[in-house]
Amino acid sequence: MAQVTLKDVTKIYDGDVLAVEQVDFHIPDESFTVLVGPSGCGKSTILRMIAGLEEITEGDIYIDDQRINDIPPKDRDIAMVFQNYALYPHMTVYKNMAFGLKLRKYPKREIDQRVNEAAEILSISHLLNRKPKHLSGGERQRVAVGRAIVRHPKVFLFDEPLSNLDAKLRVQMRMEISRLHDRLNATIVYVTHDQVEAMTMGDQIVVLNEGKIQQIADPGTLYHKPANQFVGGFIGTPPMNFIETQIVNNGSTPTLQFENFEVVLDTRFQSTLSGLSGDLVTLGIRPEDIHIGLNGQNSVETQVELVEPLGNHALLYLRTEKNNFVAQSDLLNVPQHNALLTVSFNMDKAQLFHPETGDSLCL
Ligand SMILES: Nc1ncnc2c1ncn2[C@@H]1O[C@H](COP(=O)(O)OP(=O)(O)OP(=O)(O)O)[C@@H](O)[C@H]1O
Ligand SMILES: [Mg+2]
Repeated sequence: MAQVTLKDVTKIYDGDVLAVEQVDFHIPDESFTVLVGPSGCGKSTILRMIAGLEEITEGDIYIDDQRINDIPPKDRDIAMVFQNYALYPHMTVYKNMAFGLKLRKYPKREIDQRVNEAAEILSISHLLNRKPKHLSGGERQRVAVGRAIVRHPKVFLFDEPLSNLDAKLRVQMRMEISRLHDRLNATIVYVTHDQVEAMTMGDQIVVLNEGKIQQIADPGTLYHKPANQFVGGFIGTPPMNFIETQIVNNGSTPTLQFENFEVVLDTRFQSTLSGLSGDLVTLGIRPEDIHIGLNGQNSVETQVELVEPLGNHALLYLRTEKNNFVAQSDLLNVPQHNALLTVSFNMDKAQLFHPETGDSLCL
């Protein structure tokens, strides 16, 4: 397997569409790296530049120590799985999987062995004589993965391979691809716009927005220490709540005021915020860190706009005079629609962001 390094990579389409801007990151050998971000943020463009399907405008890409900018796709030893599978409709599953090896003039016996081995790993041995139109979406997806596996590539690239599948099959394929990663000890770069997919599969996640890297981290760090407001809002469902507040520094511990409420910050922020009395700051708090009931200083009176029961918990859509936020509650004490409800913020978990740049003040 192999490692991949992107150094200050920029992609400009047609002279004026800046799709990817100075992207700089390292994909370690055998890592499962996920590129995640909203539609249009440049994920596929990055993957296609690694594959050699798109020219690099500026910067360099390396596989191991070799600069690959000018190496044609077929010589990069990379296999890509596309969202639409791109199977040949007139060929059987076997021939679809064998095609790339045949082009590269592998001996028939070797092709046969590799196709059968991949088919077994993916549990599609019984489908080898069928054509794609006689397969379900999930089965086609497996064939597309099989076609990549038989190549024994240095790096696997996946571009939203599960987005055409229904929710249940997606969960199943998610597990299978993760298992495949363990079994093959493969280096995988996986693109998705689905943050749940990113969090469950990736050991390294690269969050992108508008062509720029927002944060590179493992799932836990992204969730608990988002580098900026974008990441806080993108990772986690429902997203982190944001409230504009004003810093008040009149004792040993700084507090935050909004409307007629005041919440007390914990010691993490003492040095960052001392001397900033009166400044604005964005408070970020996750739904599960807002609890029903009083908690001394950090309580906020709200009105319940909507209750969404979700089986093992409920989401409460709450409103104050000027803010809306979501809290998560158990199903025992679900309030009524329009009820007045006092909630308390668990400030140990709170995040603070610069009100203009959105950068975290907690790092
Ligand atoms: N061939 C092209 N010519 C011009 N602009 C392009 C081309 N391909 C992509 N773009 C633009 O580049 C930006 C990034 O596109 P890209 O396909 O990489 O996004 P993405 O993150 O993969 O989005 P999605 O989640 O919708 O697949 C978008 O603004 C897109 O419109
Ligand atoms: Mg894409």
